[in-house]
Amino acid sequence: MRNVFLIGFMGVGKSTIAKILARELQRELIEMDETIEAEAGMSISDIFAQFGEAHFRDLESALVERIASRGGAIVSCGGGAVLRRENVECMKKSGKIIFLSATPETIYERVHHSTKRPLLNGNMNVEYIKGLMERRRESYEAAADVVISTDGKWKSQIVNEIVDNCFSEE
Ligand code: S3P
Repeated sequence: MRNVFLIGFMGVGKSTIAKILARELQRELIEMDETIEAEAGMSISDIFAQFGEAHFRDLESALVERIASRGGAIVSCGGGAVLRRENVECMKKSGKIIFLSATPETIYERVHHSTKRPLLNGNMNVEYIKGLMERRRESYEAAADVVISTDGKWKSQIVNEIVDNCFSEE
């Protein structure tokens, strides 16, 4: 069975939607950030602070490779997991990539109380989110097999769109 990778900006709802999908479809759920934290025995913020972003990206790439070598999972990816081309190639070989999108304003509303995202700490405002999102847009769009806008939608609508796009032919 193929994997399904949910990609998109921090706070777009990848983890929440992946959890519902996995439960409904009785598939394995892999939350990449949580897996990395559990394996490293420290938070993402501490990994960034102690070892730097490049080290985190290496852990991320190694995990993508492992997930791709198996199958059948619903994978909630970290927001930067598609920034390395080799990660995207790995994902494509083993499954389908769904890009969940949202406006910078929606993202800000969802993340502004959180301090667990090192890239946004000290940059927690709509302008910064908008800029980073623009810089990443091409990577997200190039990786995506399917793009789903999440603004103003119920979780159930988003889940149904994913099921229609990914599982109707299985
Ligand atoms: C990151 C997103 C985070 C986490 C890390 C880096 C990014 O995951 O992997 O803080 O570069 O966009 P979420 O998208 O789950 O917040």
